[in-house]
Amino acid sequence: MENYQQNKVVEVLKLLKYMGLEEVDNSLSSISPFGDLIDEVKNCKKCDLHKVRTNAVFGKGPINAKIMLIGEAPGRDEDLKGLPFVGKAGRELDNMLSSAGIEIDEVFITNVIKCRPPGNRNPEPYEMVKCNPYLVRQVEVIRPKVIVLLGNIALSLVTGTASGITKMRGKTMEYMSYPAIPTFHPAYVIRNPDSGKTVIEDFKKAVRSIA
Ligand code: URA
Ligand code: SF4
Repeated sequence: MENYQQNKVVEVLKLLKYMGLEEVDNSLSSISPFGDLIDEVKNCKKCDLHKVRTNAVFGKGPINAKIMLIGEAPGRDEDLKGLPFVGKAGRELDNMLSSAGIEIDEVFITNVIKCRPPGNRNPEPYEMVKCNPYLVRQVEVIRPKVIVLLGNIALSLVTGTASGITKMRGKTMEYMSYPAIPTFHPAYVIRNPDSGKTVIEDFKKAVRSIA
């Protein structure tokens, strides 16, 4: 359904609910605020990564999340399950979020690239260009209070080059006019455990910025 039409249907359902039609609740909750976007991503063939994926990974989390996390790309576990950060890096991420007082369920998590690059290689610029409109629409729907950029690939959304995370982490930048704080990627933290406390500090900074 076109977004415009869908919004109209939602308006009418809300009005009926207001008038006392309780059954309307179910219909309202089954309409995704993302509209057709989830299906579009699942069926996307805009770049060659679609040929080697098992599942495109849209993202997960509440639509009204105040914090949005942007990672790099699905890995093997994410490709198999169709969900972001469900493998080893995901467990590391969960731990660091909870150390910063953040519940994993309160953030929206997605990636720069929605399909797994073979062998977990870095996404290529052309893939990022093709995939970026999906991320842009996700940000537009969620309208987060703060974005956390996990690692160099996510940082490159702002800087245009996939490097510099060591220098830039913890600084508040902007992505699509939203405050965006880069920090190390959880996979980097697994390889460099000392950097974990820095990531927790950066997460806490994100929390303070929206308090
Ligand atoms: N690494 C990422 O960048 N994203 C995931 O979803 C999983 C691992
Ligand atoms: Fe489409 Fe993005 Fe997957 Fe490429 S990576 S096929 S652009 S969803």
